[in-house]
Amino acid sequence: MAHRIGIIGGDGIGPEVVAEALKVVRAAGVDVEEVAFDLGGARYLSEGVVLPDEELEAIRELDAVMLGAVGTPDVPPGVLERGLLLRLRFELDQYVNLRPFRAEPSALNDGVDMVVVRENTEGIYAGEGGFLRKGTPEEIATQGSVNTRHGVERCIRYAFDLANTRDAKHLTLVHKTNVLTFSGDLWQRTFDEVAADYPAVTTAYHHIDAACIYFVEDPGRYDVIVTDNLFGDILTDLGGAVSGGIGRAASGNLNPDRTGPSMFEPVHGSAPDIVGTGKADPRAAVISAAMMLQFLGEHDAAERVEKAVAASEGVTGTTTEIGDAIAERL
Ligand code: IPM
Ligand code: MN
Repeated sequence: MAHRIGIIGGDGIGPEVVAEALKVVRAAGVDVEEVAFDLGGARYLSEGVVLPDEELEAIRELDAVMLGAVGTPDVPPGVLERGLLLRLRFELDQYVNLRPFRAEPSALNDGVDMVVVRENTEGIYAGEGGFLRKGTPEEIATQGSVNTRHGVERCIRYAFDLANTRDAKHLTLVHKTNVLTFSGDLWQRTFDEVAADYPAVTTAYHHIDAACIYFVEDPGRYDVIVTDNLFGDILTDLGGAVSGGIGRAASGNLNPDRTGPSMFEPVHGSAPDIVGTGKADPRAAVISAAMMLQFLGEHDAAERVEKAVAASEGVTGTTTEIGDAIAERL
Protein backbone atom coordinates (compact mmCIF):
# COMPACT_ATOMS: atom_id res chain seq x y z
CA MET A 1 0.00 0.00 0.00
CA ALA A 2 1.22 3.48 -0.89
CA HIS A 3 2.20 5.78 1.97
CA ARG A 4 -0.06 8.81 1.92
CA ILE A 5 2.23 11.82 2.39
CA GLY A 6 1.04 15.38 2.93
CA ILE A 7 3.20 17.89 1.09
CA ILE A 8 3.43 21.40 2.52
CA GLY A 9 6.08 23.34 0.61
CA GLY A 10 5.28 26.48 2.59
CA ASP A 11 7.26 29.67 2.18
CA GLY A 12 10.49 30.86 0.64
CA ILE A 13 12.81 28.06 -0.42
CA GLY A 14 10.48 25.48 1.21
CA PRO A 15 8.78 24.38 -2.03
CA GLU A 16 12.14 24.23 -3.84
CA VAL A 17 13.79 21.85 -1.37
CA VAL A 18 10.68 19.72 -0.84
CA ALA A 19 10.45 19.14 -4.61
CA GLU A 20 13.97 17.70 -4.55
CA ALA A 21 13.25 15.56 -1.50
CA LEU A 22 10.19 14.12 -3.25
CA LYS A 23 12.23 13.47 -6.38
CA VAL A 24 14.69 11.44 -4.28
CA VAL A 25 11.94 9.51 -2.47
CA ARG A 26 10.42 8.55 -5.81
CA ALA A 27 13.83 7.60 -7.21
CA ALA A 28 14.30 5.32 -4.18
CA GLY A 29 11.30 3.36 -5.46
CA VAL A 30 9.05 4.03 -2.49
CA ASP A 31 5.35 3.92 -3.25
CA VAL A 32 3.98 7.29 -2.13
CA GLU A 33 0.70 9.03 -2.73
CA GLU A 34 1.30 12.78 -2.52
CA VAL A 35 -1.43 14.96 -1.05
CA ALA A 36 -0.49 18.60 -1.65
CA PHE A 37 -1.60 21.43 0.62
CA ASP A 38 -1.41 25.08 -0.38
CA LEU A 39 -0.48 26.53 3.01
CA GLY A 40 1.83 29.40 3.93
CA GLY A 41 2.27 33.10 3.36
CA ALA A 42 0.91 33.26 -0.20
CA ARG A 43 -2.38 31.60 0.77
CA TYR A 44 -2.66 33.79 3.86
CA LEU A 45 -2.15 36.96 1.82
CA SER A 46 -4.65 35.96 -0.87
CA GLU A 47 -7.37 34.31 1.26
CA GLY A 48 -6.66 35.37 4.83
CA VAL A 49 -6.49 31.76 6.08
CA VAL A 50 -3.55 30.01 7.75
CA LEU A 51 -4.73 26.43 8.45
CA PRO A 52 -8.42 25.76 7.88
CA ASP A 53 -9.88 23.13 10.25
CA GLU A 54 -10.93 20.84 7.34
CA GLU A 55 -7.36 20.79 6.07
CA LEU A 56 -6.00 20.00 9.53
CA GLU A 57 -8.48 17.10 9.74
CA ALA A 58 -7.36 15.85 6.31
CA ILE A 59 -3.71 16.02 7.44
CA ARG A 60 -4.58 14.05 10.58
CA GLU A 61 -5.53 11.07 8.39
CA LEU A 62 -2.22 10.93 6.49
CA ASP A 63 0.75 8.65 7.16
CA ALA A 64 3.31 11.49 7.32
CA VAL A 65 3.91 15.08 6.28
CA MET A 66 6.85 16.62 4.43
CA LEU A 67 7.19 20.32 5.19
CA GLY A 68 9.53 22.84 3.57
CA ALA A 69 9.63 26.03 5.61
CA VAL A 70 7.26 28.49 7.22
CA GLY A 71 7.61 32.27 7.50
CA THR A 72 7.90 35.24 5.17
CA PRO A 73 8.68 38.92 5.74
CA ASP A 74 5.35 39.78 4.04
CA VAL A 75 3.40 38.42 7.01
CA PRO A 76 3.80 39.69 10.61
CA PRO A 77 5.95 37.41 12.80
CA GLY A 78 4.05 34.68 14.57
CA VAL A 79 1.01 34.45 12.28
CA LEU A 80 2.31 31.56 10.19
CA GLU A 81 4.75 30.17 12.76
CA ARG A 82 2.06 29.83 15.43
CA GLY A 83 -0.94 29.35 13.16
CA LEU A 84 0.58 26.75 10.88
CA LEU A 85 3.82 25.13 12.07
CA LEU A 86 3.24 25.13 15.83
CA ARG A 87 -0.46 24.35 15.41
CA LEU A 88 0.46 21.24 13.41
CA ARG A 89 3.09 20.18 15.96
CA PHE A 90 0.67 20.66 18.87
CA GLU A 91 -2.52 19.33 17.25
CA LEU A 92 -0.78 16.24 15.90
CA ASP A 93 0.94 15.71 19.27
CA GLN A 94 4.40 15.62 17.71
CA TYR A 95 6.02 15.80 21.10
CA VAL A 96 9.58 14.97 20.05
CA ASN A 97 11.58 17.08 17.65
CA LEU A 98 14.42 14.76 16.67
CA ARG A 99 17.48 16.47 15.22
CA PRO A 100 20.53 14.33 14.40
CA PHE A 101 23.96 15.81 13.66
CA ARG A 102 26.86 14.00 12.08
CA ALA A 103 30.15 15.30 10.69
CA GLU A 104 33.63 14.05 9.95
CA PRO A 105 36.53 15.60 11.90
CA SER A 106 37.27 19.15 10.71
CA ALA A 107 39.26 22.24 11.62
CA LEU A 108 36.40 23.03 14.00
CA ASN A 109 36.30 19.79 16.00
CA ASP A 110 37.08 16.04 16.13
CA GLY A 111 33.84 14.99 14.52
CA VAL A 112 30.19 14.98 15.52
CA ASP A 113 27.71 12.16 16.09
CA MET A 114 24.91 13.34 18.29
CA VAL A 115 21.12 13.58 18.36
CA VAL A 116 19.11 16.31 20.01
CA VAL A 117 15.71 15.31 21.40
CA ARG A 118 13.90 18.63 21.63
CA GLU A 119 10.60 18.76 23.54
CA ASN A 120 8.14 20.00 20.90
CA THR A 121 4.73 20.79 22.41
CA GLU A 122 5.36 22.77 25.60
CA GLY A 123 7.76 25.24 27.23
CA ILE A 124 7.74 28.84 26.22
CA TYR A 125 6.34 27.81 22.83
CA ALA A 126 2.99 26.95 24.46
CA GLY A 127 1.91 30.56 24.03
CA GLU A 128 1.01 31.32 27.63
CA GLY A 129 1.01 35.01 28.49
CA GLY A 130 -0.29 38.28 27.19
CA PHE A 131 -0.27 42.04 27.48
CA LEU A 132 -1.56 44.42 30.09
CA ARG A 133 -1.93 48.12 29.29
CA LYS A 134 -0.46 47.51 25.84
CA GLY A 135 1.00 50.57 24.17
CA THR A 136 1.16 52.61 27.39
CA PRO A 137 4.29 53.48 29.40
CA GLU A 138 3.04 50.97 32.02
CA GLU A 139 2.84 48.16 29.51
CA ILE A 140 3.43 44.62 30.78
CA ALA A 141 4.17 41.60 28.58
CA THR A 142 4.42 38.10 30.03
CA GLN A 143 5.44 34.90 28.26
CA GLY A 144 5.18 31.83 30.43
CA SER A 145 6.85 28.47 30.06
CA VAL A 146 4.50 25.50 30.40
CA ASN A 147 6.10 22.28 31.65
CA THR A 148 3.85 19.37 32.53
CA ARG A 149 5.09 16.24 34.26
CA HIS A 150 3.39 14.21 31.51
CA GLY A 151 4.97 16.23 28.69
CA VAL A 152 8.44 16.32 30.21
CA GLU A 153 8.42 12.64 31.15
CA ARG A 154 7.35 11.31 27.77
CA CYS A 155 10.06 13.34 26.04
CA ILE A 156 12.73 12.20 28.50
CA ARG A 157 11.60 8.57 28.16
CA TYR A 158 11.90 8.82 24.39
CA ALA A 159 15.46 10.13 24.81
CA PHE A 160 16.43 7.30 27.18
CA ASP A 161 14.92 4.71 24.81
CA LEU A 162 16.92 6.20 21.96
CA ALA A 163 20.17 6.38 23.95
CA ASN A 164 19.67 2.76 24.97
CA THR A 165 19.76 1.68 21.30
CA ARG A 166 23.02 3.51 20.52
CA ASP A 167 26.60 2.33 20.99
CA ALA A 168 27.64 5.14 23.34
CA LYS A 169 24.45 4.90 25.45
CA HIS A 170 24.98 8.34 26.91
CA LEU A 171 22.26 10.92 27.58
CA THR A 172 22.81 14.54 28.58
CA LEU A 173 20.08 16.74 30.01
CA VAL A 174 20.55 20.37 28.95
CA HIS A 175 18.69 23.07 30.86
CA LYS A 176 19.30 26.06 33.11
CA THR A 177 18.43 24.62 36.50
CA ASN A 178 20.51 27.23 38.32
CA VAL A 179 18.13 29.99 37.24
CA LEU A 180 14.93 28.29 36.07
CA THR A 181 14.41 26.76 39.47
CA PHE A 182 10.80 25.64 38.85
CA SER A 183 10.84 24.18 35.36
CA GLY A 184 14.48 23.11 35.74
CA ASP A 185 13.66 21.28 38.94
CA LEU A 186 10.80 19.41 37.27
CA TRP A 187 13.06 18.43 34.35
CA GLN A 188 15.94 17.32 36.60
CA ARG A 189 13.75 15.30 38.98
CA THR A 190 11.93 13.61 36.12
CA PHE A 191 15.24 12.89 34.39
CA ASP A 192 16.70 11.31 37.54
CA GLU A 193 13.60 9.20 38.16
CA VAL A 194 13.41 7.90 34.59
CA ALA A 195 17.17 7.21 34.59
CA ALA A 196 16.58 4.51 37.23
CA ASP A 197 14.72 2.49 34.55
CA TYR A 198 17.74 2.58 32.20
CA PRO A 199 20.76 1.22 34.10
CA ALA A 200 22.77 0.78 30.86
CA VAL A 201 22.55 4.48 29.96
CA THR A 202 25.12 6.84 31.49
CA THR A 203 23.93 10.39 32.11
CA ALA A 204 25.17 13.94 32.44
CA TYR A 205 23.73 17.39 33.02
CA HIS A 206 24.94 20.60 31.33
CA HIS A 207 23.65 24.13 31.59
CA ILE A 208 22.55 25.48 28.22
CA ASP A 209 25.23 28.19 28.12
CA ALA A 210 28.01 25.70 28.81
CA ALA A 211 26.51 23.32 26.24
CA CYS A 212 26.95 26.05 23.61
CA ILE A 213 30.69 26.08 24.28
CA TYR A 214 30.96 22.27 24.20
CA PHE A 215 28.97 22.11 20.95
CA VAL A 216 31.65 24.20 19.28
CA GLU A 217 34.79 23.02 21.05
CA ASP A 218 34.13 19.46 22.09
CA PRO A 219 30.94 17.97 20.58
CA GLY A 220 32.51 14.52 20.99
CA ARG A 221 31.28 14.51 24.56
CA TYR A 222 27.68 14.23 23.32
CA ASP A 223 25.66 11.23 22.21
CA VAL A 224 21.96 11.93 22.88
CA ILE A 225 20.83 15.26 24.33
CA VAL A 226 17.40 16.00 25.75
CA THR A 227 16.23 19.55 26.32
CA ASP A 228 13.22 21.84 26.36
CA ASN A 229 11.60 23.49 23.38
CA LEU A 230 13.39 26.86 23.28
CA PHE A 231 16.81 25.61 24.34
CA GLY A 232 16.42 22.88 21.72
CA ASP A 233 15.53 25.39 19.03
CA ILE A 234 18.65 27.44 19.63
CA LEU A 235 21.00 24.54 20.29
CA THR A 236 20.02 22.78 17.06
CA ASP A 237 20.87 25.78 14.89
CA LEU A 238 24.26 25.66 16.58
CA GLY A 239 24.37 21.91 16.01
CA GLY A 240 23.87 22.53 12.30
CA ALA A 241 26.56 25.19 12.24
CA VAL A 242 29.17 22.87 13.78
CA SER A 243 28.33 19.84 11.64
CA GLY A 244 28.52 20.82 8.01
CA GLY A 245 26.18 23.77 8.01
CA ILE A 246 22.48 24.34 8.40
CA GLY A 247 22.02 23.08 4.83
CA ARG A 248 22.57 19.54 6.18
CA ALA A 249 20.44 19.72 9.34
CA ALA A 250 17.35 17.51 9.19
CA SER A 251 14.52 17.00 11.62
CA GLY A 252 11.49 14.92 12.44
CA ASN A 253 8.56 16.21 14.43
CA LEU A 254 7.59 12.84 15.83
CA ASN A 255 4.41 11.52 17.33
CA PRO A 256 6.08 8.41 18.79
CA ASP A 257 2.72 7.02 19.93
CA ARG A 258 1.50 7.19 16.31
CA THR A 259 -1.83 8.73 17.23
CA GLY A 260 -1.27 11.10 14.29
CA PRO A 261 1.18 11.62 11.46
CA SER A 262 4.74 12.76 12.09
CA MET A 263 6.15 15.66 10.11
CA PHE A 264 9.60 15.93 8.56
CA GLU A 265 11.31 19.23 7.77
CA PRO A 266 14.75 20.76 7.35
CA VAL A 267 15.92 22.73 10.39
CA HIS A 268 16.65 25.76 8.20
CA GLY A 269 14.00 28.36 7.54
CA SER A 270 12.44 29.87 4.44
CA ALA A 271 15.54 31.96 3.51
CA PRO A 272 13.57 34.58 1.53
CA ASP A 273 16.82 36.21 0.42
CA ILE A 274 17.75 33.29 -1.85
CA VAL A 275 14.31 32.27 -3.20
CA GLY A 276 14.48 31.39 -6.88
CA THR A 277 18.27 31.65 -7.08
CA GLY A 278 18.90 27.90 -6.95
CA LYS A 279 21.27 28.44 -4.04
CA ALA A 280 19.27 26.43 -1.51
CA ASP A 281 20.94 23.14 -0.58
CA PRO A 282 18.23 20.47 -0.69
CA ARG A 283 20.26 18.01 1.41
CA ALA A 284 18.59 18.92 4.73
CA ALA A 285 15.17 18.26 3.17
CA VAL A 286 16.39 15.02 1.58
CA ILE A 287 17.85 13.74 4.87
CA SER A 288 14.56 14.69 6.56
CA ALA A 289 12.79 12.57 3.95
CA ALA A 290 15.13 9.68 4.83
CA MET A 291 14.08 10.11 8.48
CA MET A 292 10.47 9.91 7.29
CA LEU A 293 11.17 6.68 5.42
CA GLN A 294 12.77 5.19 8.57
CA PHE A 295 9.73 6.18 10.60
CA LEU A 296 7.42 4.61 8.00
CA GLY A 297 9.36 1.34 8.21
CA GLU A 298 11.05 1.75 4.80
CA HIS A 299 14.46 1.02 6.33
CA ASP A 300 16.17 -0.15 3.17
CA ALA A 301 15.09 2.89 1.14
CA ALA A 302 16.01 5.21 4.02
CA GLU A 303 19.52 3.81 4.18
CA ARG A 304 19.96 4.04 0.43
CA VAL A 305 18.89 7.70 0.49
CA GLU A 306 21.31 8.45 3.34
CA LYS A 307 24.15 6.77 1.42
CA ALA A 308 23.24 8.66 -1.76
CA VAL A 309 23.38 11.98 0.12
CA ALA A 310 26.79 11.04 1.54
CA ALA A 311 27.98 10.03 -1.94
CA SER A 312 26.86 13.43 -3.27
CA GLU A 313 29.22 15.22 -0.89
CA GLY A 314 31.32 17.67 -2.83
CA VAL A 315 28.75 18.03 -5.60
CA THR A 316 27.95 21.69 -6.07
CA GLY A 317 25.36 23.31 -8.30
CA THR A 318 21.81 24.53 -8.15
CA THR A 319 19.10 23.11 -5.90
CA THR A 320 17.77 20.89 -8.70
CA GLU A 321 21.25 19.82 -9.81
CA ILE A 322 22.08 18.62 -6.30
CA GLY A 323 18.71 16.86 -6.12
CA ASP A 324 19.44 15.14 -9.45
CA ALA A 325 22.93 14.16 -8.27
CA ILE A 326 21.49 12.49 -5.17
CA ALA A 327 18.75 10.73 -7.15
CA GLU A 328 21.32 9.43 -9.66
CA ARG A 329 23.38 7.90 -6.85
CA LEU A 330 20.54 5.75 -5.56
C1 IPM B 1 12.46 25.45 13.91
C2 IPM B 1 12.00 26.83 13.57
C3 IPM B 1 10.64 27.08 14.21
C4 IPM B 1 10.80 26.91 15.71
C5 IPM B 1 10.01 28.44 13.87
C6 IPM B 1 9.87 28.63 12.36
C7 IPM B 1 8.67 28.62 14.54
O1 IPM B 1 12.93 27.79 13.98
O2 IPM B 1 11.79 24.48 13.51
O3 IPM B 1 13.50 25.31 14.56
O4 IPM B 1 11.15 27.88 16.39
O5 IPM B 1 10.57 25.81 16.20
MN1 MN C 1 14.73 26.93 14.83
